[in-house]
Amino acid sequence: MVDRVFCIDFGSAFTKVALRRDPGAESTLLASRSVGVGEVDFCLPSVVAVDRRGTKAIPEFGDRAAGLTEGGGIEVYRHWKKLIFQVPGSKPQVSPLESLLQSPELQVLATKHGVAAGQLGYLQQLVAAAKSLIAGPGGRVISAEVQQRTIAASLAPHFFLWLRQQVLDACNRLPATGLKYESIPVRIAVPAFAHGKGFEANPGCKILTDALGKAGWPLHPDTPVVSEPYANAVGILTKASNVIQKGRIRLGDMFGKVPFITVMKSAADHPAYRAIVIDVGAFTTDLAAITLKPDGTSTSDPDANIDITQNSVPFGVSDLDERVIAALPKEKGEWLRKATPVEWEDFRPAVYSSGKGYRSGKVGLVGGTADGDAVSACLEDLGKRLAEEATKFVTTLPQLPKGALQELILTGGGSIIPAFRDNLLAATQASGLTFVKIHGPDMKKSMADVPIAKLDLTFARGGSALGGTSLYFEREDA
Ligand SMILES: Nc1ncnc2c1ncn2[C@@H]1O[C@H](COP(=O)(O)OP(=O)(O)OP(=O)(O)O)[C@@H](O)[C@H]1O
Ligand SMILES: [Mg+2]
Repeated sequence: MVDRVFCIDFGSAFTKVALRRDPGAESTLLASRSVGVGEVDFCLPSVVAVDRRGTKAIPEFGDRAAGLTEGGGIEVYRHWKKLIFQVPGSKPQVSPLESLLQSPELQVLATKHGVAAGQLGYLQQLVAAAKSLIAGPGGRVISAEVQQRTIAASLAPHFFLWLRQQVLDACNRLPATGLKYESIPVRIAVPAFAHGKGFEANPGCKILTDALGKAGWPLHPDTPVVSEPYANAVGILTKASNVIQKGRIRLGDMFGKVPFITVMKSAADHPAYRAIVIDVGAFTTDLAAITLKPDGTSTSDPDANIDITQNSVPFGVSDLDERVIAALPKEKGEWLRKATPVEWEDFRPAVYSSGKGYRSGKVGLVGGTADGDAVSACLEDLGKRLAEEATKFVTTLPQLPKGALQELILTGGGSIIPAFRDNLLAATQASGLTFVKIHGPDMKKSMADVPIAKLDLTFARGGSALGGTSLYFEREDA
């Protein structure tokens, strides 16, 4: 068992890091961000930028990188997590230039400009020859996806080196503990599709763990990687608590009275437990069902009896952003398109959640009463789209046996948006699912006729990082 651990939840928009500083200490999020920037001090923008304007390339990270605009010698990499996990397609890749050269449109243009058909043929041959020259004797051409992943993989060690510095600085601001934070190992949370049980781990996991190693983080010796929704569920259900007595992990105390422990202890009456986790992120919505079916023999290691089903939908808060830009009056939309990520971070809660609007210096109040109808239509539209995805997911899940206990966890920054959260609630309940408890941000008792657990920002945004450091993922005998 490892006594202390960090967990990194590497989000496509924001990275969150938590620490369990002693075996039985509560897991805590590390406030690594300068005070006064953005809304939440434990969410660091996962942005990397390279400034090539001078003689030397200068890398920038986090808030500084997020404040830069692409172009004129500056490269900004915002969504590189996606590239790390993207599995190159099996189809042969045709570059955009090749498809242009082979297109009927180009032939029409060539005719219009009097270019002889043979000349166009020579041009095509010339490009093909150049391609095989670059590819070398084997003729293997590197696909665009592989190239993108190579770039993303080369950014990773730099990002984690910078992140490590932010994290160690944050640790050194904690009340003096005498701990050597540099030697505490790290675990990273990855999408469940990249780490599902029974699947071969996605190469992205290796890229990230290698990068962590290069950045000088010691990896957790047994479980350096954990699935995001699994960690999220554990963080939320244990409320980040860790309990150990005489070297024994007390799962009963950590999970308190939640149904998870009821099923572990009395499988005869309650043969299964399922947590449905819906994490609405910036670029993806991850829907996961974590099912525990104790086999009656081993109750000390619930993980052995856990199954995860998950679906990752390329749809999230960034899609709402695009829709709102298009729906606003032209001047305001233009302002919003150019807004910095830090302005966006304040804009989203003010417009999508509280509806008050955001006061910009340039174009006045954006998303306030005057724009109310336009914004509401976008929220409702995309809320419905989310609801459809949730319905699709829950209706294809394997049926639970009679007596099973089920909980719903709505999480991720997007779940804080009332229109999204309410549509998800309605969809899961309309699909005939029954829950013994629902966990979600800003929930009120009247929202459902089952007990409600209100998630605050710490859990709605930091659940995966917190859960990833849980004693739950430690083995007593390891
Ligand atoms: N109160 C709020 N109201 C509206 N939007 C919010 C609120 N809080 C956070 N968001 C937005 O929710 C989005 C998702 O945040 P989150 O931290 O869950 O993303 P992520 O984990 O980086 O993304 P992904 O899960 O896709 O990798 C962000 O765009 C964030 O700005
Ligand atoms: Mg996330």
